[in-house]
Amino acid sequence: MGKNTMTLTDNRTGKSFEYNIIDGTRGPSVVDIRSFYKDSGMFTFDPGYTSTASCESKITFIDGENSELRYRGIPIEDLAGKSSYLDVCYLLMNGNLPTPEQSKNFDLEIRHRSFLDEGILRLFDALPDHAHPMATMGAATMALATIYKDHLNPSNEDEFRVMRRRILAKMPTIAAMAYRNSIGVPMIYPDINRYFTENFLYMLRAYPGGKLKYLGNGHNDEIKQVEVDALDAILTLHADHEQNASTTTVRNVGSTEAHPYVSIASGIAALWGSAHGGANERVMEQLKLIGDVKNVPTYIAKAKDKNDPFRLMGFGHRVYKNRDPRAQELKKLQDKLREELHLDSHLLDIAAAVEKAALSDDYFVSRGLYPNIDFYSGVILTALKIPIEMFTPIFVIGRIPGWISQWTELKQDPTAKIARPRQLYTGK
Ligand code: CMC
Repeated sequence: MGKNTMTLTDNRTGKSFEYNIIDGTRGPSVVDIRSFYKDSGMFTFDPGYTSTASCESKITFIDGENSELRYRGIPIEDLAGKSSYLDVCYLLMNGNLPTPEQSKNFDLEIRHRSFLDEGILRLFDALPDHAHPMATMGAATMALATIYKDHLNPSNEDEFRVMRRRILAKMPTIAAMAYRNSIGVPMIYPDINRYFTENFLYMLRAYPGGKLKYLGNGHNDEIKQVEVDALDAILTLHADHEQNASTTTVRNVGSTEAHPYVSIASGIAALWGSAHGGANERVMEQLKLIGDVKNVPTYIAKAKDKNDPFRLMGFGHRVYKNRDPRAQELKKLQDKLREELHLDSHLLDIAAAVEKAALSDDYFVSRGLYPNIDFYSGVILTALKIPIEMFTPIFVIGRIPGWISQWTELKQDPTAKIARPRQLYTGK
């Protein structure tokens, strides 16, 4: 038996199989079981992939025990609120932060690529009023593949670079238009004089004719720099998260040689679920449902009751069994913005009471259930006058650089294969 190997013995036959242990730069080592079926005639069984590393990656690292998250080696604490979101996108897509000149050119290019083909706008017309923006975004993203038919040749780096930048630039436009379409107000085109994040707020809030008014309250409402900075930091904290459910979906669809934007549309579908990115919308609904600090114990009891399907939204994570570092950064942002953006103190009080009750309860402590990123984003997004149904679309906008970098990495991996797991058959 070699030092860096693991031997598995089938106790029924006494046969042993030896597998290499591979060390990454950080994180748990892996046992390379790629030949296991060929060797033993058996599959490994790991529903939900709790013990499976599905790929090799150089993009994002998480240490769930020590609350650590790094993009291309840089801790998120050094990026959120310190580098612009677009610089972080550049980092994820290229492996390094841009020089000031690269940053300027990247920003300019993204501004110019933010427009949508008019054919996509006609697609919005075909969808019903009150459609959830996530459904519309999935459809519009899929439809991009009808326009950009290339983007499939991994040896053509220029083509891949344009493909990545295009989807990054267009997603805020798709999201804002999906929302505007759902409430039946005229579309607002991107304003290339505005930075990415400001432009998104502009497209969400503006009325045709140039005057900015918040849709819904009718007051003049210019976009404040503090709002742009807050949303920029939120986008940064969502930018990548290694092989989560939606990223794995993007990679799985990409492994079939599907178009990158079709893979991204599948990622949007996967993210929408309430166990994943859809939780941010559900957190806000739940805080409103709890309604008052005095009701918190009732809902904590419901969350603990195994006969009640109620789960505390914004709590728990597959990887973080300790504090979610993204949540910690958002909590700091929340505290900083409390006065400046007039955060809803009633909701904040309920959220604080939920957190305090959960973190002093053995049910949550023993299972390592801490507030996750979705627990803190909602109150800030509400203060930015973002409608609740746009919470998960904001997660999508933030996650684009992660998904598209992971897709590119897959395509450039010569050992990549179509994702095709097997099963334990127990049927007739
Ligand atoms: N409320 C009550 N109990 C919970 C919760 C919760 N939010 N989350 C997990 N548990 C319990 C669960 O019932 C199980 O208990 P037991 O061991 O007695 O059966 C234990 O904790 C482990 O849970 P699990 O479902 O096996 O863990 P998982 O790793 O498969 O699921 C999760 C992780 C995020 C899906 C889950 O914690 C959850 O549903 N949380 C609420 C939804 C949420 O906030 N999602 C956003 C995640 S962060 C954004 C993102 O990156 O997607």
